[in-house]
Amino acid sequence: MSAGHPIFTPNEAMSLAPARIPPSAWIGHLPFAFWIVEEAQPRMLVELGSHHGTSYLAFCQAVRHCALQTRCYAVDTWSGDEHSGLYGEDVFETLNAINQREYGGFSALMRMTFDEALGYFPDGGIDLLHIDGLHTYDAVRHDFDTWLPKLSERGVVLFHDTMVRERDFGVWRLWAELSARYPSFEFQHGHGLGVLLVGAEQPQALRSLAALPGTGMDVPVLRLFEALGTRLQPDPEPLLARRIDEVAASVTRLRGDIDSSMRLKFEDVRRDVETLHEMARAAEDALRATLAEEIARLREALAIQSEQVSTRHEEARRECLDALAAQDDKFARAVAQSEARFEASLQASIAAVRADEASAAEAREEEAQGRFDALQRALHDAQAQLQSEQEQARALSERLATEEARGQSLADRLQDIEASRSWKLTAPLRRCMGWLRGSRSGTD
Ligand SMILES: C[S@@+](CC[C@H](N)C(=O)[O-])C[C@H]1O[C@@H](n2cnc3c(N)ncnc32)[C@H](O)[C@@H]1O
Repeated sequence: MSAGHPIFTPNEAMSLAPARIPPSAWIGHLPFAFWIVEEAQPRMLVELGSHHGTSYLAFCQAVRHCALQTRCYAVDTWSGDEHSGLYGEDVFETLNAINQREYGGFSALMRMTFDEALGYFPDGGIDLLHIDGLHTYDAVRHDFDTWLPKLSERGVVLFHDTMVRERDFGVWRLWAELSARYPSFEFQHGHGLGVLLVGAEQPQALRSLAALPGTGMDVPVLRLFEALGTRLQPDPEPLLARRIDEVAASVTRLRGDIDSSMRLKFEDVRRDVETLHEMARAAEDALRATLAEEIARLREALAIQSEQVSTRHEEARRECLDALAAQDDKFARAVAQSEARFEASLQASIAAVRADEASAAEAREEEAQGRFDALQRALHDAQAQLQSEQEQARALSERLATEEARGQSLADRLQDIEASRSWKLTAPLRRCMGWLRGSRSGTD
């Protein structure tokens, strides 16, 4: 590199041996992941699309190695997409266990869509953003546009798969647009990784890389990272798993062979069983026919028996009816006799009652007549006495009238005397006479 050109500074982290290399198209960029974490020293790092965690675990390893205060977040549904394919729960469970065990102090997995995660981050808070979700142009454009406001003044965005043009991948197209607007550099190995410096305040090391002349493999630094990256191999566990898959496949093949010979055998047995079934069906049909005949015969016998039973039943019914009629006659006769006896005794009783009543009435009549006669006599006596008393009363009243007339004439005479002159003149004499009579009676 000649004087005056920006200088690339290697750092310690870029030589780290990855603690884990899960299977991924990202493996070739692990040395650069270590390098950029040490250089950018992000306060907050977010990855959109983590899958097995190949890139994310490398970022976390570098954060821990450099003892940074970085808060790291991996956002993914951990269910896959059209490009990565759909995968099972074990992928998330494995990554979650590693993350909690080794990086739980500063890293969190956010199991949700990128859009859902947006609300959890403040604007201008993210220093390093890795966009590695669905790789169609529209998807990656949407991810960039929606997350751009979240980037800080030191913001850097990494885009994976900038070199892939198959299967509707469109990162290359977006990269062409963005790299014309922002300082950037691009690795061409490992399906391409674009580094976009969107923040105005970038560390010198990044600005130098962006300012390097040339593109792609012409740039020695980029070739250096390619060399470092391509020597990395995925962890052996997945290789073993692949071997196990191969063995399982051959077991499946063998099982298939065994299955087909079993199927042939089974076919023979099935045919035998079919023949036996046929025989059983024929035997069953014969048995059914015999049973049907037997049932018809029994039905006939049953019909004859029920005919006899109903004849016997009719006879018995008639006998019962006759006996009942005879009983009825006897009963009616007994009732008639009883009624006649009752009527006779009733008439006798009525006659006796009537006779008693007649003699009692006669006696009562005589007694009444006697009382009537006595009362007549008493009335007659009373009338006679009344008459004599009336006559006495009449005589007395006549006498009274006579006495009253006499009294009236005496009173008239007395009045005449008192009114006379001689009476008045003799008044003193009468008084003396009175006085004398009084004193004489007092002397006696
Ligand atoms: C290419 S893989 C990520 C690879 C990973 N960075 C690595 O280092 O190997 C893409 C991941 O993005 C996830 N993904 C795609 N679109 C998503 C979205 N809109 N929200 C959440 N996850 C999404 C998929 O589930 C998938 O796991």
